[in-house]
Amino acid sequence: MIYPTILCGGSGTRLWPLSRKSYPKQFVPLLGPETLFQASARRLHGPGFAPPVVLTNSDFRFIVTEQLAEAGIDPGAILIEPEGRNTAPAVLAAALHALQDDPEAVLLVAPSDHAIPDAVAFRNAVTRGLPAVAAGQIVTFGITPTRPETGYGYLELTAPPGPGGAPVPLARFVEKPDLARAEAMLAAGTYLWNAGIFLFRAADMLEAFRTHAPEVLAPVEAALAAARADLGFLRLDPKAWAQAPDISIDYAVMERATNLCAVPFGGDWSDLGGWDAVWAAQPRDAAGVATSQGATAIECHDSLLRSESEGVELVGIGLTNVIAVAMNDAVLVADMSRAQEVKKAVEALRTRK
Ligand code: GDD
Ligand code: MG
Repeated sequence: MIYPTILCGGSGTRLWPLSRKSYPKQFVPLLGPETLFQASARRLHGPGFAPPVVLTNSDFRFIVTEQLAEAGIDPGAILIEPEGRNTAPAVLAAALHALQDDPEAVLLVAPSDHAIPDAVAFRNAVTRGLPAVAAGQIVTFGITPTRPETGYGYLELTAPPGPGGAPVPLARFVEKPDLARAEAMLAAGTYLWNAGIFLFRAADMLEAFRTHAPEVLAPVEAALAAARADLGFLRLDPKAWAQAPDISIDYAVMERATNLCAVPFGGDWSDLGGWDAVWAAQPRDAAGVATSQGATAIECHDSLLRSESEGVELVGIGLTNVIAVAMNDAVLVADMSRAQEVKKAVEALRTRK
């Protein structure tokens, strides 16, 4: 049985003003009627998948239960992290939790804030990874890189992917390279981007932590042993959890492990890491303009115009490469090429208050 394990801890500041601290992007219907979190849960729902396990923090716990109920999906468990310690402690907690019931548990760890429109193609890719998992491998999912992105992990393949998309063993995993290394890896043609999704036997992940990141083990084991059940949530023990190092799974395990494989994934994938990425993931007209209800574009090109408020009409005239997002209480207008700098706006507003 595959246990879908959904990470829901992020804050998504680059999609301000739609994504807010108290209501981050994964809980917003960014691309269609469902929220990204609901779409992530649905993608991993159905035959062969156990009910999803969600890892989040206390502030989001009722949003998670409400949105799962709305989607008609029963959660397997909702683990509450007392504070964000990044993804390594979260993944280990999920693995240890699964091992309590099922020593053979296979986990599919996935973010809650990505866009993967073709769920069937994605589930097929997961299925292709299972033989490697049975052989004790940790399976990653690889996307063909199109630019020297420095915000992703890179997967070095030991052989070109075959036509069937079977798992390829990795020579190494490089997390968030600098620009020069990213350019070199793009040029080499033997690397894929890491989609941030991992498939593995819980017992193998535990072993990987023992070998490569033993410092994470004791605090997370203690936090789970002293966890408190509370109205359907499992609250990890705050004192023990506070001792867990703040480190991502990519640095703690993936860069160090030698039993890694990649399943190439040819479908569309986006981590929606900025408004430019949202624009690219949305339907656009012939001029490259994406508009929401309540937004009107007149002679605009390659722009995104969204009104998120029923009471606010947004009109753009003669715009090129512009992002405009209107909420009830905030409006963003930015050049498309500056999309990554939106987090600066969030910081500026925070310090002004
Ligand atoms: N529960 C929980 N707790 N979730 C968390 C925490 C935490 O402390 N920290 C982050 N997350 C969630 C985020 O919400 C996101 O869904 C996922 O875990 C990955 O974390 P990010 O912080 O978004 O990672 P990243 O984008 O920098 O890098 C990862 O994803 C890239 C692809 O988007 C890496 O795996 C890269 O190698 C990968 O290329
Ligand atoms: Mg991310």
